[in-house]
Amino acid sequence: MKAVVYRGPRDVRVENVPDPKIERPTDAIVEIKSTNICGSDLHMFEGRTDFEAGRVFGHENLGQVKEVGPAVERLEVGDWVCMPFNVSCGHCRNCEKGLTAYCLNANEPGLAGGAYGFADMGPWQGGQAEYLRVPWADFNCLKLPPDAEKKQNDYVMVADIFPTGWHVTRLAGLCPGDAVVIYGCGPVGLMAAHSAMIQGACKVMVVDRHPDRLKLAESIGAIAIDDSKGDPVQQVLDETHGKGADVGCECVGYQCHDPAGKEVPNATMNDLVKSVKFTGGIGVVGVFVPQDPGAADKLAKKGEIVFDWGMCWFKGQHIATGQCNVKAYNRQLRDLIHAGRAKPSFLVSHEIELGKAPDAYQHFDARDHGWTKVILKPGK
Ligand SMILES: NC(=O)c1ccc[n+]([C@@H]2O[C@H](COP(=O)([O-])OP(=O)(O)OC[C@H]3O[C@@H](n4cnc5c(N)ncnc54)[C@H](O)[C@@H]3O)[C@@H](O)[C@H]2O)c1
Ligand SMILES: [Zn+2]
Ligand SMILES: [Zn+2]
Repeated sequence: MKAVVYRGPRDVRVENVPDPKIERPTDAIVEIKSTNICGSDLHMFEGRTDFEAGRVFGHENLGQVKEVGPAVERLEVGDWVCMPFNVSCGHCRNCEKGLTAYCLNANEPGLAGGAYGFADMGPWQGGQAEYLRVPWADFNCLKLPPDAEKKQNDYVMVADIFPTGWHVTRLAGLCPGDAVVIYGCGPVGLMAAHSAMIQGACKVMVVDRHPDRLKLAESIGAIAIDDSKGDPVQQVLDETHGKGADVGCECVGYQCHDPAGKEVPNATMNDLVKSVKFTGGIGVVGVFVPQDPGAADKLAKKGEIVFDWGMCWFKGQHIATGQCNVKAYNRQLRDLIHAGRAKPSFLVSHEIELGKAPDAYQHFDARDHGWTKVILKPGK
């Protein structure tokens, strides 16, 4: 089959690789119909992780079941399914608590959490390919309703960015009527804004410097805060009578930078402390890593940042972090899409055939104007 293979920093190629096979009785093989490029792929694409050359990318996957192992009970060939980016077993101590992003059986011993085509998250191949092997398939395939094919550009967002955007609002403790500030207006920040709107936020402020992305945020009723035009903290304070937002969301991660492009790894965390009110909550889903040998700054190489802990403590804020437990939300978000109450596809800018993935990676990585979210269509 054809698949998007990582060859080295900023080098992906579409190559022929062996078709995946049923390896365990609980596996299924899914024929991929839609698979997204994610901001998380870019950390790996840029060579800022230890993702192995020769592996296949792709953790935001939707398709049709092609084959099931003898122990799979819930799925039939032909079912339309969306897979959480997390690979999880369903029966370990963490999975049983709903913490499927930290499954104890999907990674090496001593580590928690698995994902398809992801650095340091187990051996699983990615789905930017014609087919994908899904382990523990009964647990890891979310069945989709009859409008699956028609609405696949919405449902594919349920693999990762929509639940992740929802998750960050839950980590932050958003309540109806709250004002929320979101740092980062990429796909995850936009999904956080969409989620906050659905949950009844009174004001949604999104900070970034890309006009095309900020315009999308405005199109769903958010307030765009352009940090290339002035201090974002001051702009948030101005919007909130000087008190700060009730809650804040980090949707950028360790490669956050100033508007000129210089990496400043503590920028968003410290701006959040300053833009969120006394006793407010901060959710962090932007990825931070324990080692970053490619970082420009000495501390960041060790995964450390200079954090404004004194101010955070003084303000009595709380912070919650981590990968999204997609299964904690994916049924409900699927049903919101089915009912027409959520439409995450509003951010899709490009639908392209798998063969054009290398070009799409370059554009999305450069955050080129108009490249907000790319869906690859392997069947086309
Ligand atoms: N925790 C999870 O489960 C999870 C899931 C998916 C993605 N992620 C992570 O979320 C982050 C965002 O993903 P994405 O797909 O939206 O990526 P993206 O890179 O497309 O978007 C990030 C945006 O942040 C902006 N930005 C950079 N520095 C900034 C700053 N200082 N202030 C404000 N905005 C700034 C960029 O201009 C860009 O538009 C990534 O780190 C990704 O790996 C985490
Ligand atoms: Zn993703
Ligand atoms: Zn588990």
